[in-house]
Amino acid sequence: MARTRTVHRCTSCGAAAPKWAGRCDGCGEWNTLVEELDVREAPLAVTGPSAIAQPIADVADESSHIRSTGLVEVDRVLGGGLVPGSVTLVGGEPGIGKSTLLLQLAGAVAEAGQRALYVSGEESASQVRGRADRLGALHDELWLVGETVLPHVLGQLDEVKPEVVVIDSVQTLVNPELSSAPGSVAQVRECAHALVQEAKRRGIAMLLVGHVTKEGTLAGPRVLEHVVDTVLEFDGDRQHGLRLLRASKHRFGPTSEVGLLQMDEMGLAPVDDPSGLFLADRVTGVSGSAVVPTVDGNRPLLIEVQALVAPSQLATPRRSAQGLDQGRLAMLLAVLERRVGLPLSSAEVYALAVGGARILDPGADAGVALAVASSLTGNALDDDLVVIGEVGLGGELRHVSHINRRLGEAARMGFRRAIVPHATGEAPEGLTLLRAPTLSAAVRLADVGPS
Ligand code: TYD
Ligand code: MG
Repeated sequence: MARTRTVHRCTSCGAAAPKWAGRCDGCGEWNTLVEELDVREAPLAVTGPSAIAQPIADVADESSHIRSTGLVEVDRVLGGGLVPGSVTLVGGEPGIGKSTLLLQLAGAVAEAGQRALYVSGEESASQVRGRADRLGALHDELWLVGETVLPHVLGQLDEVKPEVVVIDSVQTLVNPELSSAPGSVAQVRECAHALVQEAKRRGIAMLLVGHVTKEGTLAGPRVLEHVVDTVLEFDGDRQHGLRLLRASKHRFGPTSEVGLLQMDEMGLAPVDDPSGLFLADRVTGVSGSAVVPTVDGNRPLLIEVQALVAPSQLATPRRSAQGLDQGRLAMLLAVLERRVGLPLSSAEVYALAVGGARILDPGADAGVALAVASSLTGNALDDDLVVIGEVGLGGELRHVSHINRRLGEAARMGFRRAIVPHATGEAPEGLTLLRAPTLSAAVRLADVGPS
């Protein structure tokens, strides 16, 4: 039965219109009409036996079928690997390395004996083959097709019978029954829906590549995030080889783990010693630098933060934060000014996390604040010192999560002393704790205040 008719439906109120219009007749919202297949033409086929309730412990647990992808860092983020019949969306900016990651993944899966199909809509099959050669992903069980037409892709699933499928990217797919252009919300939504149904029906672990638009949303208005089981975000700093993989949604496990990969000529490799990587270029004895033991997911990471304070001629001095939260930096500067008494209101302040790291952890507050104080006064922090603590508006240093993990990592990396919030427990072997109830106390203990 051919489904040939489409309607335009309002994404805000759900009203249907036969033609596209700038404004919805139903609710009056602008630019909310999106083309979709008219379900009245083809009523949802209710087939198969009805579901039967059973004791919860008797229900099969899908996540128990997890299969390793063969890539350690991806497995870490997924909580072990891919679940058959699940759909994972991998989002990231163009050029960040999504195709590289998924080709390596498909290769690793094939090497382990699972049949994988890589559907390339962006690059030709021969281009992908060339890349697979360089990445060492040529394996018998890895199949490749250059295709963008949805029914043809589904046909290939029948032919190849893969266990793992990569669609690169979902924005290139077209369902010819829709008149909307590839990459439009209508196409992306319909194609993703169809693929999700096929993945569930055939028990395929499917991975969809989705380019992130400038606003940072996947395929426009987050149309895909509800329909998939897992959303992975792949990002990092283009200039630095470091890439981070995180789950922002995951039906089969926690979303707290982060995967760290390094991009080089041979593709993406796991980072074994991230703290070592981040601290590799550290120059000691320079003012404006502090090392902070952060925790990302469950993994401790030592990151250097740097600050530069310079006099400004501007009425509103510049404040720039890279890899740190801009609002958080502004707050720390205000606390340094009002609670610690450091004159910063007429200074330009630049602060960054070294090595392309991105710090979301409030436990880095005290380190950022001490780096700023150090740059202002010209007094460097000691080489063997790390700083931990969230800063409150009252200028107090607050306790942070995973303190033992942070301290353990600092000790492992050879640091000898740590400035910590007052209530911190015992120190690990080799580390001396300097307890600071307030940011002022931390400035004194680190000896970075005005002399
Ligand atoms: P790609 O996977 O094509 O990114 P995406 O699919 O997210 O758009 O990767 C693009 C960049 O990665 C490209 O600039 C080149 C670089 N790269 C390497 O540095 N090493 C490699 O082995 C490969 C395959 C790519
Ligand atoms: Mg790509």
